Amino acid sequence: MSERDAALLRRAPLGVFDSGLGGLTVVRALREALPAEDIVYLGDTARVPYGTKGPDTVTRYALGCAKHLVRRGVKAIVIACNTASAVAPDRLRVELDLPVLGVIDPGARAAVEATRSFKVAVLATSGTIASGAYPRAVAALSTRVETLGQAAPLLVPLAEEGWTEGEVPRLAARRYLEPLAHRGVDVVVLGCTHYPLLRDVIEGEARVLLGPDVRVVDSARATAEDVSSFLRDRGLARTPEGAPGQTHLLVSDLPRTFDEVASRFLGAPAGPAELVDL
Ligand code: DGL
Repeated sequence: MSERDAALLRRAPLGVFDSGLGGLTVVRALREALPAEDIVYLGDTARVPYGTKGPDTVTRYALGCAKHLVRRGVKAIVIACNTASAVAPDRLRVELDLPVLGVIDPGARAAVEATRSFKVAVLATSGTIASGAYPRAVAALSTRVETLGQAAPLLVPLAEEGWTEGEVPRLAARRYLEPLAHRGVDVVVLGCTHYPLLRDVIEGEARVLLGPDVRVVDSARATAEDVSSFLRDRGLARTPEGAPGQTHLLVSDLPRTFDEVASRFLGAPAGPAELVDL
């Protein structure tokens, strides 16, 4: 590749997608780790949730999202969705000629690093739990750590609705955490990128049910670290040139509360999302 093409590639944006708002928790971590990068984020709000759908459907949706981002000229794709990261990366890598990174391996790493009891619980969508991706990723890192899976599908629509505090999400979180009580778990992985939006509620209930020292981890920061080293190692990281990178939001349907909830979770006004047809 000529030096000019390499420079153009470094300046290209990073593509990130999820079924809806959840992946913005990963965008926030990417913004912190890679402030110079431009990010194009696609929330497939027309087809959320992914977590209740089968692997073929999720893979098809993920491919549609990734192809749209490729048309926007991205240099790499981050699947900011555990459900899609559990089933779709290989197919995306085969079909698209660019790097594809997911959130499961970083989430497993965060869990293995945090546990002292060698027993971690993963709260995730039904699709992620059914895929067995977390137990596999944890086992690849440590044969001592046991992984308990718990599907928590109702937390996704609560997050999409912006219903992140109060009695309803608290009761839902309690219901999902109860089966994990008294089992020696000291780490709960938020194995769905929507769940950090309800982090306070989940953490509060986990401390009551699993013990005051339980740690709640998510994959956002570990994913951002992986993406950052990946881009640097391959000479793909954008050189800081003064102005910070921009975040451009795309959605396949415009829910009433998207812009407001997006700004809240990015920690900065995100600008109106652009509606796209996948
Ligand atoms: N945020 C996604 C995940 O991490 C998907 C949630 C959903 O659409 O069900 O699994």
